[in-house]
Amino acid sequence: MAGARGPIKVIAGNAHPALADAIARELNLPAEAAEVGVFADGETRVRLAPEVRDATVFLVQPTCPPVNENLMVLALLADAARAAGAARVVAVVPYFGYARQDRRGGPGDPRSARVAAGLLGAVGVDDLVTIDLHTPALESAFPMPLTQLAAHAALVPVVQARGVQDLVVVAPDAGAMKRAQAFAAAAGAGAAVVAKDRPRQDEAVCRHVLGEVRGRSCLIVDDMASTGRTLVSAAEVLRRAGVREVSAAFTHPVMAPGAAERLSAVGFSNVLTTDSIPIPAFPWLQVAPTAPLLARALRALLGEIVVGQN
Ligand code: R5P
Repeated sequence: MAGARGPIKVIAGNAHPALADAIARELNLPAEAAEVGVFADGETRVRLAPEVRDATVFLVQPTCPPVNENLMVLALLADAARAAGAARVVAVVPYFGYARQDRRGGPGDPRSARVAAGLLGAVGVDDLVTIDLHTPALESAFPMPLTQLAAHAALVPVVQARGVQDLVVVAPDAGAMKRAQAFAAAAGAGAAVVAKDRPRQDEAVCRHVLGEVRGRSCLIVDDMASTGRTLVSAAEVLRRAGVREVSAAFTHPVMAPGAAERLSAVGFSNVLTTDSIPIPAFPWLQVAPTAPLLARALRALLGEIVVGQN
């Protein structure tokens, strides 16, 4: 590849080797695997076998569950690359764990997203590339330059291929509104929003919907499905509001225990996500690839292409 000063290495951590392979294929490079294991006392052990001196190193490791282990592996790999003389270390973290803990929920709480971002800065990550960070304003918590990609580049073409004429994109809470509006604009659809409360941690109650949805085909768009309760509750509200059908599209399939069962039981017309996190195949779940989007961002970081707003 032209544009980088030294060799370019695509190195897979242990969280999502298939995505590292797909990104490497897009870049016409081989993906190389880091060794990851555990010492007898439970400490994480990594080893970077590839020669990385003077190289630009792309470390591919979403910090999905098990979040702490995956984050630690990424931090150790970044340090290993630095110690071996890499010229530039780029963390490719399509899903950034801890992003939802972007601010204190109450007295005594930490700013966990800032801690996770700061750890990666402390071990020498020069750039971080991610997709649909829970809130874009979290950028200020990252000590290194951040490339934030929007998954709708991967999701909208899949939705448009369905040829739905009267589509309304629905944000399942106020925080999701901007993302849903951007999605709707890209898809040429209308937009609506559902009002959501969280009575307790990991519970979601959607109360009512704002916008024209009666008789329409609605697509709930969110950044992730963790317990799946937000999507389930939003679908119930939309059905009560008289929609014709409900589908869901979310960027990150975090899928905490029970989520797959909950989502498959809702009777969504379609459920669409991305491969930012590895998940088992489900017959009711369509998965859009993110490697083209990520590879384009990496090419831009190398100065090979100039991109506008991602
Ligand atoms: C909330 O602010 C997020 O955007 C998602 O709506 C939420 O994290 C989804 O979580 P769950 O699937 O557990 O309802």
